[in-house]
Amino acid sequence: MKIRENSGKLGVLIPGLGAVTTTLIAGVDAILKGRSSGLGSLTQMGRIRLGKRTENRNPLVKEFVPLAELSDLVFGTWDLFEDNAYVAAKKAGVLSDKDLEAARPALEKIKPMPAVFDKNYVKKLDGDYIKRGENKYDLALQLIEEIHRFSKENLIARNVMIWIASTEIYIEASDVHKSLEKFEAGLKSNNPNIAPSMIYAYAALKSGIPFINGAPNLTVDIPAMRELADLMNMPVCGKDFKTGQTLMKTIIAPGLKARMLGVQGWFSTNILGNRDGEVLDDPDSFKTKELSKKGSLDFIFQPDVYPELYKDLYHKVRINYYPPRGDAKEGWDNIDIFGWMGYPMQIKVDFLCRDSILAAPVALDLILFTDLAQRAGMKGIQEWLSFYFKSPMTAPGLYPEHDLFIQQTKLKNTLRWMMDEELITHLGTDYYDDYQ
Ligand SMILES: NC(=O)c1ccc[n+]([C@@H]2O[C@H](COP(=O)([O-])OP(=O)(O)OC[C@H]3O[C@@H](n4cnc5c(N)ncnc54)[C@H](O)[C@@H]3O)[C@@H](O)[C@H]2O)c1
Repeated sequence: MKIRENSGKLGVLIPGLGAVTTTLIAGVDAILKGRSSGLGSLTQMGRIRLGKRTENRNPLVKEFVPLAELSDLVFGTWDLFEDNAYVAAKKAGVLSDKDLEAARPALEKIKPMPAVFDKNYVKKLDGDYIKRGENKYDLALQLIEEIHRFSKENLIARNVMIWIASTEIYIEASDVHKSLEKFEAGLKSNNPNIAPSMIYAYAALKSGIPFINGAPNLTVDIPAMRELADLMNMPVCGKDFKTGQTLMKTIIAPGLKARMLGVQGWFSTNILGNRDGEVLDDPDSFKTKELSKKGSLDFIFQPDVYPELYKDLYHKVRINYYPPRGDAKEGWDNIDIFGWMGYPMQIKVDFLCRDSILAAPVALDLILFTDLAQRAGMKGIQEWLSFYFKSPMTAPGLYPEHDLFIQQTKLKNTLRWMMDEELITHLGTDYYDDYQ
């Protein structure tokens, strides 16, 4: 496959300068200055096997595929609070003072642009650093102009946009989302079903920039945006970074299913105290997140295919805003399983995780892989990046693949396919070949 070269600056356009974004920027700076190695990131630390096991070819992913260099990333952000990235990071409370001070010069120079914001979509936030415009179309044009200026000033060769702003309220696709024509008319008539995240996505795609959705909002998961992505030959992917509890779920569930163990109930609850937790304390934003978190088990267990094991599974997800915890979330899972002759057993998981520490490397990988996809001419939904999402976008009519290990195989095989290497199928014939 022909892949355009990775030379020049890559603009990383991010709506949302909060906990995850500032942790991402500080971490990239730490890697560049040799203070950290990119833990948690497949693009920085991962290796990929090529050919037969006997060949011993296991290059680093970043040496195998032509990814953008970290030194070529230039961050451009928007937020409804005017704080620079250093102040925002301090408020987010994720990083230690030592790490913050080390990254201070890199963070301080990042000042957000004013947000496109609508309080109806995120009820718990009150900021005043917001764009004003005649209508939503005018706001989209302002974003396009800003992106153009940012690219010119920073001598940007290519951009990607990644939504790392707050979770918007739950909405379903409606008439205005059905085609690009209807969507553009809706922008001009200020249709209330067009969310701010959609205005950013529209501005990005219209400018020939791929879009990644790190939150569970609908955003690009509508026909109008798929049409625009297709028209502009741009990749899109989403939704909702797979971190914390859902990551654990999609690690454990495929294992239980592989061994034909039944599951009667799965209760998940969390406490978290960061701004994301505060936003999710609003029932409408929580609903968007809840649906995103709940989808995975149904698709992994396939209760219609394995009714005896999973048809009665009771799945409940709770998120509790609890300020003392800040970003150090605690997630509990109680899993009621049953095995041979129907005997019940229980699994308890208590994951003391750090939300933004898990999310930042996911964001970095998505930025680098989506840029790779645009240079490889891959347009539309990038299902091979499902590995990173709680609620993977799929082409209409297909069910999403949630099993982390199938997702990983798909991701790695896509990289092999891009580089004209043999796909690894783990078939029996492969096995015999390996021993020859
Ligand atoms: N941390 C994780 O593990 C994780 C996992 C999956 C998804 N996410 C999602 O990532 C997003 C960011 O998480 P976070 O912990 O950094 O949250 P955060 O609250 O710290 O940061 C979000 C920022 O977005 C800003 N914002 C809100 N609406 C905006 C708009 N329209 N335009 C520009 N800025 C806007 C807010 O002011 C805030 O500064 C959330 O939607 C969250 O649900 C996070």
